[in-house]
Amino acid sequence: MPCQVWILHHIGIASVWVFFGVFMLHRLVVTVYRLVFSPLARFPGPRLAGASSLYEFYFNFCKNGKYVFELSICDPTFYDKLYVSGSVRPTESYNRFADGVDFDGSHFLTISHGLHRVRRKPFEPYFSRLGVTQLEPTIHELMDKLLGRFDILNGTNTVVRLDHVLTCFTGDVISRICCDSPTDLIDDEQFSADWHEALNTIVRSMPLFESFPWLIRVVRLVPKAFLTWLDPRSQLFNDWKEMAEQQVQQIKDERSDAAKTRTHITGPKVTLLRHLIHNSGLPEIELSTSRLVNETQVLLGAGTIGTARVLDLICYYILARSEVRARVISELNTVMVEYPQRKPTLSQLERCVYFQAVIKEGLRLSYGVMRRLPRVSPSVAIQFRRWTIPPGVPVGMSAYMQLMDPEIFFTPFEFISERWLPGHVTTQMHRNFVPFSKGSRNCLGMNLAYAEMNHVLAALFRPEEPRFQLFETEESDITLAHDFVVPLPRVDSKGLRVVIQ
Ligand code: HEM
Repeated sequence: MPCQVWILHHIGIASVWVFFGVFMLHRLVVTVYRLVFSPLARFPGPRLAGASSLYEFYFNFCKNGKYVFELSICDPTFYDKLYVSGSVRPTESYNRFADGVDFDGSHFLTISHGLHRVRRKPFEPYFSRLGVTQLEPTIHELMDKLLGRFDILNGTNTVVRLDHVLTCFTGDVISRICCDSPTDLIDDEQFSADWHEALNTIVRSMPLFESFPWLIRVVRLVPKAFLTWLDPRSQLFNDWKEMAEQQVQQIKDERSDAAKTRTHITGPKVTLLRHLIHNSGLPEIELSTSRLVNETQVLLGAGTIGTARVLDLICYYILARSEVRARVISELNTVMVEYPQRKPTLSQLERCVYFQAVIKEGLRLSYGVMRRLPRVSPSVAIQFRRWTIPPGVPVGMSAYMQLMDPEIFFTPFEFISERWLPGHVTTQMHRNFVPFSKGSRNCLGMNLAYAEMNHVLAALFRPEEPRFQLFETEESDITLAHDFVVPLPRVDSKGLRVVIQ
């Protein structure tokens, strides 16, 4: 070996060792700091979890989302003090939670309290109680379409994946609210099965990207054609992103034309995206195409998955428990008697107390977002009993712990709708009922979710209902077993399958 090559070779090896040594020293110093000197060092909990985030990665990724116990507060009386409105205290989100999920710039992933408020404000009128009341005709129109498809399947003994159907429904609703050219997932012959699977794939990959946020940046560099070759379903994401880009671009182009001709743009129905671009008053910097695309995808994703999952669970229990089904049908009789000619309003359905109890129990057993939902108080320390949580430290509480607390909900794993009937409900139950979280970063779509759940379930389980029967579906196909940020049933579940007789 020539002398220069020998020297370069050995310098190369020496550099690797130096790099490795510095890296290990850095990890050692960080670990000692975390375990001994950090203000959190004396907080109770497994020392390994305090030392390294690999502990969390192991449970989230290697054990398929089984990490529920972490540095978080487990005291139901404290929930209202941690998840607070802006008037009590500014709340930031935790940047590690946001990093790695590819929707940068959306209000959901905005860390700063002030910017989050600015970005979320234009949506609020659409998802307020009044806003959602105005959306009821859209829900009815889609329900008519869906019932038409069920009529065709009636008596054919075709096995239908009701979970696919419900994902189509919620997806079409939110897309009509947001986009000028909405999806028609319900029309697909297979009820857009690929779309449901693709969404589940995203959800299942979230713990990986959450643990290694740089991965998403690597994935972005891989040519789309190669990704599609690896997994054809990834094409659906590309299509989805491109669809959002087209929608945003089309409205933006229209805006620049309008500026030229000074015409005031109003459509017959102003979609959320159109409102955002034309009338929201957001500064120009907030209207970049990439940000609006990410915002659109967050709304479409959150609006589809959450509600569909709860509907799956509720439909299962109504179908599996004949006494629940009979009671729901009998109670709906009064409001659904002239359906579909005369459709009930949300307020009318809300007066059906047993029906509402079924929805609440379904929400309880769906866990909302299961994990701790970390929040950061940027400038004020949070006092929890004798523990002072310094400003800037992420701290969370798990909705799962609230909703499954055996002290508050006897036999918490059982679906018992009667527990929500008047006379049985306690103030502690109300306090612990947090499927939509609370405070300034709570669920934006809560009112919409309630409206959809009410109208869909009332139409499916009215006295003249389509006669669904469960097909080879067990409770374990539906109950939630994994926390992939969004909770999902066991990974080998065959879904919610029914036949219409
Ligand atoms: C039953 C169905 C649903 C459940 C259980 C649910 C639950 C939740 C929870 C627990 C959060 C808080 C997440 C966090 O703090 O990180 C959240 C946030 C959010 N949800 Fe929902 N959700 C549902 C339906 C919907 C619907 C229909 C929409 C449609 C717009 C929606 C849009 C959002 C958005 C945009 C956020 C982020 C809000 C923000 O950061 O300000 N959700 N949801």
